[in-house]
Formats: sequence, structure tokens, C-alpha cells
Amino acid sequence: MQEERAHWTSNVGFVLAATGSAIGLGNLWKFPFITWENNGGAFVLVYLLCIAGVGLPIMMAELLIGRKTQKSVVGALKDAVGPAWGYVGAWGVLCGFILLSYYTVIAGWSLYYFARTVGWMAGGLPAGTSLGDLFGAQSANAPLQLTLSLGFSLATVAIVYLGVQRGIERIARLFLPILFGILLLLLVSSFAMSGSGEAIGFIFRPSFSELTPESVLEALGHSFFTLSLGMGAMVTYGSYIARHQSIVKASAMIVLLDTLIALIATVIMFTVIFTAGMQDQVGETGTVGMLFIALPQLFFQEGVVPFGSLLAPLFYVLVALAALTSTISLLEVVTSYVIDEKGIGRHKATFLCGGAVFVFTIFAALSFGSTPGLSTIELFSGKAGWFNTADHFVSNWMLPTGGFAITLAAGWFMTRDATESELVDGTEPGWFRYNVWRIFIRYVAPAAVGAIIISVAFGRDFS
Ligand code: TRP
Repeated sequence: MQEERAHWTSNVGFVLAATGSAIGLGNLWKFPFITWENNGGAFVLVYLLCIAGVGLPIMMAELLIGRKTQKSVVGALKDAVGPAWGYVGAWGVLCGFILLSYYTVIAGWSLYYFARTVGWMAGGLPAGTSLGDLFGAQSANAPLQLTLSLGFSLATVAIVYLGVQRGIERIARLFLPILFGILLLLLVSSFAMSGSGEAIGFIFRPSFSELTPESVLEALGHSFFTLSLGMGAMVTYGSYIARHQSIVKASAMIVLLDTLIALIATVIMFTVIFTAGMQDQVGETGTVGMLFIALPQLFFQEGVVPFGSLLAPLFYVLVALAALTSTISLLEVVTSYVIDEKGIGRHKATFLCGGAVFVFTIFAALSFGSTPGLSTIELFSGKAGWFNTADHFVSNWMLPTGGFAITLAAGWFMTRDATESELVDGTEPGWFRYNVWRIFIRYVAPAAVGAIIISVAFGRDFS
């Protein structure tokens, strides 16, 4: 017999869980770095427009498809649109699977840096430590990488195993307030540093002469990643919403919180960098460099971060918590598909899916060492190893195509009645205009996402 579908116990619980999915390494690892690369200001403004004009309408579309059908992504798209749309759902499940396989590895690094920074709390950074070398050594250390990512995978599996209410929602309720607290503490302490004015100027003062068409597309691509859109994660979470919970309000809240956290994280990181006068070095170390090479060094550098040696471990707790609330959402996409479509119980399904994903996590974890094959496969030029291959494929191809399909589903294939009755149901806030949403989901969002796909086809790289 089919168990009754679980629902979030409250609106707050749901918003926190979905916000936990959205807030992740994208906010702490990708956004600050691409803001840096694109010279801040104007890029941030464009990003905010993308979030509001494309991200928010698609967020509503995904949640409404989930709530309407009460099914995970494959069944939801079949029910809401038509049988062939099951393939679009399956594309999303595959995307969740691949993304989770390497996301866990980065999450594992945060555990490593937590342990190291705790170790340096008392005596400071040992003389002669090169954090660039340390990063290289840890990422190439196979047993270490396997241990870290196995630990993180087990934590993820344990939470998803407990289910929607006792696992996912409870963890979100517990961890997100801690995450917000740590972030605020770091923000307040960054205001005490001399570089904070410069950092804020860099982030918020737009200079449009530096804006290129590529940076507009990069902002757009990132708005998908950071909001967990384009792969059915929000469809899945939406399927646990009870009828009386508002999709519009929740979407606005999730999008707002995710954006706020990304901006705060960027202010903190840039303040540290400007205070130390490290501007020149940051660009060279790439995306991972900012989080795992530049920052740990600066936390322990004399005169940069007040109480830096205390704040450093807290910062990596923040990264780990943000990552964990995202990995559970990724695993839930895959697991709920198996539960709903294959009729397997949650406990068994969680182990099955967690185990299958972990096989690929092994590939990702060994991507940086010298394991033959794993660190050298190169399906996309310049992207050696499973880790880079997967990141490239997900960010460039899977999320934009999945998101494009969602806009078509909600804007063109579902009837007006079907979407209107979900969004305008008496729970929506006064500012919401269904017709405006409809224009965005039918025209603006597909045109924008279509532009990403075309530019990727012509060789642009957004990973
Ligand atoms: N939003 C997450 C982040 O910013 C990454 C992500 C993309 C994700 N799609 C997802 C997380 C789906 C959970 C589910 O880090």
C-alpha cells in the first residue's frame, strides 16, 4: 500500500528547507569569485535583475508543479504536462545525481579546513606553511579525500533516510539559524576591518563600461545554480507543500534570503581580501582559491581579521552547514524519484541512491590526484578529471536545458487555468500579479535561458 505523502509541518519549515537547498557552495564559493572576476558593481546589479526576472518566476513554476501534482520530478512533469515530459524529469534526476557526486567532494574540503583551522587556533599558522601547497596536497591525497567525502555522504544519507519532516525539515530548522548567526557574526567583525569600505564599494558601485555580454550570461547561469533551479529540486520540495501554503510568498522569501546571503558572504570575503591588500593574488588561485587558499591564510595573518583564529573554524562550519542542507536536497531529488516511481520504501531507496551516487563521488574525489584515468579523462577540452567534467556538464548544459524545459512546461504546455489556480489561491500576497508572472515565464525567462544555451553551444563556459 502507498504510504501517505509527507508534508512540511509548517510554512517556516518549508521555507527554511528550500532556502537551505538554495544556499550552498554556490553562494560561498562561486558567487564571490565570479563577482570578483567580473569586477563587481554592474555585474551584481545584473545578477539581481536575473534573480528577479528569471529566477523568481522559475522558482514559482517549479514549486507550483510540485504542489499541484504532489509527486517528485518525473511523475510531476508527466502529470502536469504529459507522459513524454517524464524524460525531462529524468534529465533532472540525472543532473541531481551528477551534481551531488562532485558537490560532496568540495563539501568534504570544508571539513578538512575546519579541522586544520581548529588545529591552528592555539599556535597560529606554522611558519613556512604555503596554503596553496596545502590545498594541492590535500586534494591529491586519495585516502583523505575518500574519507572526507564518505563522511559527508553518510551524513547526507542519514538525514534523507529520516524523511521529509524528521530529517530534512528538522535539520534545516536547526542549522539555518546557526548559519545565519555565524554569517552575521562574520559580517559584524568585517565592519571592524579597514578594507570594508573598499569592499562594499567594489560590490555595489556599478561601472557599466566593464560589463560584457558574457558577464550577463554568467550572472544568469549562476542564478539557476544558486537557486537550485533547472533540475527539479524545487519541484520535489514543492511536492511536500500542503495546499494552504503559499507558493508566491515562499518563492519570494527563498529568493530573497539566498541573494542576501550571497551578498553578505561576498562582503565578508572581499573585506578580508582588501584589508590584507591581497587583490593581486586572488585572481590567480581560481574559484577554489578564494575559499580554501586565500581566506584561511588571511584569517591567521597578523592584523587582518580581529579574532581571526577563532572565526576561521566558524567560517568552515558555515561552509559545511550550507553544503549539507544542499546535499540533502540533491539526494532527495534522486531518492524521491525512486520512491515514487519504483515503489521502493524510503529507507531502502536512500541507501540505494546514496550508494550509487557515492561510486561517482569516488571518481570526483580522486580527480585531483594521479589516479590514471580519473584525473585525466577529458570529455570537454581543458576539463580534465571527473570533477571538472561533471561541473562543466551540469552548469553549462544540464541546468540551462532543464530550466528551459520548465519554462516551456509552465508557460506554454500547461493551461492558464492550471497555473493560475495554483498561484492565485487566496494565499498569494497583494503585490502578486498573475499576468506579469505569465509574461515572464512565457517570454522573458525562455529567451534569457535560450541565450545561455546558444552561447554554450558556441563554446562559452560557465562552469
Ligand atoms: N543551490 C546550490 C548552491 O548554491 C547548488 C544547487 C544547484 C543545488 N542545484 C541544486 C542544491 C539542487 C540542491 C539541489 O550551492
